[in-house]
Amino acid sequence: MSIHIGAEVGDIAETVLLPGDPYRAKWAAETFLGNVRMVNETRGMLGFTGTWNGHDVTIQGSGMGMPSLSIYVNELIRDYDAKTLIRIGSCGSMQEHVGIRDIVLAMTASTVASPSHSIFKDVTFAPCADWPLLKAAAKAAESKNRPIHIGGIYSSDTFYDERPDLNEQMVRHGILAVEMETAELYTLALRHKRRAMSVLTVSDHLLTHEALPADQRERSFGEMVEIALEAAFA
Ligand code: HPA
Repeated sequence: MSIHIGAEVGDIAETVLLPGDPYRAKWAAETFLGNVRMVNETRGMLGFTGTWNGHDVTIQGSGMGMPSLSIYVNELIRDYDAKTLIRIGSCGSMQEHVGIRDIVLAMTASTVASPSHSIFKDVTFAPCADWPLLKAAAKAAESKNRPIHIGGIYSSDTFYDERPDLNEQMVRHGILAVEMETAELYTLALRHKRRAMSVLTVSDHLLTHEALPADQRERSFGEMVEIALEAAFA
C-alpha cells in the first residue's frame, strides 16, 4: 500500500494506463483486459489490473489536473516501480487544423507551473515524451483512420481560465491542444527514468467552440486505449 493507493506491491503492473476519470479506468479494464481485478478504490480513484495479449496491465484513474496526477504517478513509480506510464484523455484543440475527434500525441507539454516547477528555478524545463513510445503510438494510431497530430500541447491546472492571453500565446506558438496533466507526467517520468506518453482525443475546440457529441466519447476513448496498449508492447 502507498498513501493514496490501496494495492499491494505486485498488484500493479509495470505498464500503467492513466485516464483522468476513474470510471473510464473501470470501463477500459472491463472492455479490453482479461482476468481483471480491482486493485484500488481509495478515495474512489479506481484502479484495475488485468492482462492484454499475455501482458500485465494496470489502468488507474489519475484525477483531474497535475496536483492529482502527481500524487498517483509519484506513488506508482516510487512504491510500485511502474515503468511505462501512458495517459489517455481528452483535450481542447487550439488550432484550426486540429478537429474534433482527431488524435493528438503529445511530443512536449508546456505549462505555467507543474507541481515540479519550483525545483527548476531559473530554467524553463521542456517536458517531452519517450520517443520510442511516441513513435510506436504514431504507428498504432494510423490504423484508426483519423487525423493524427504530433507536437506540443499545453498543460494547465486552470480549466476555468481567467487568462485568455496565455491561450493566445499558445495558439500563436503552434501548440496543438490544452489539457491538464501531461507536463507533470513527463517531468516525473524523465526524473525517474521511466517511459511516458500521452494519447489524447480532441473533445472540444477552443477556436470554433465545437464539442464531441456524448455518444462518440466512449468510442474515441476506446481507440485511445487500443493505441496505448499497442504502443506499450510494440
Ligand atoms: N481545457 C483543459 N482541459 C481540457 C479541455 C480544455 O478545454 N478539454 C478537454 N480537456
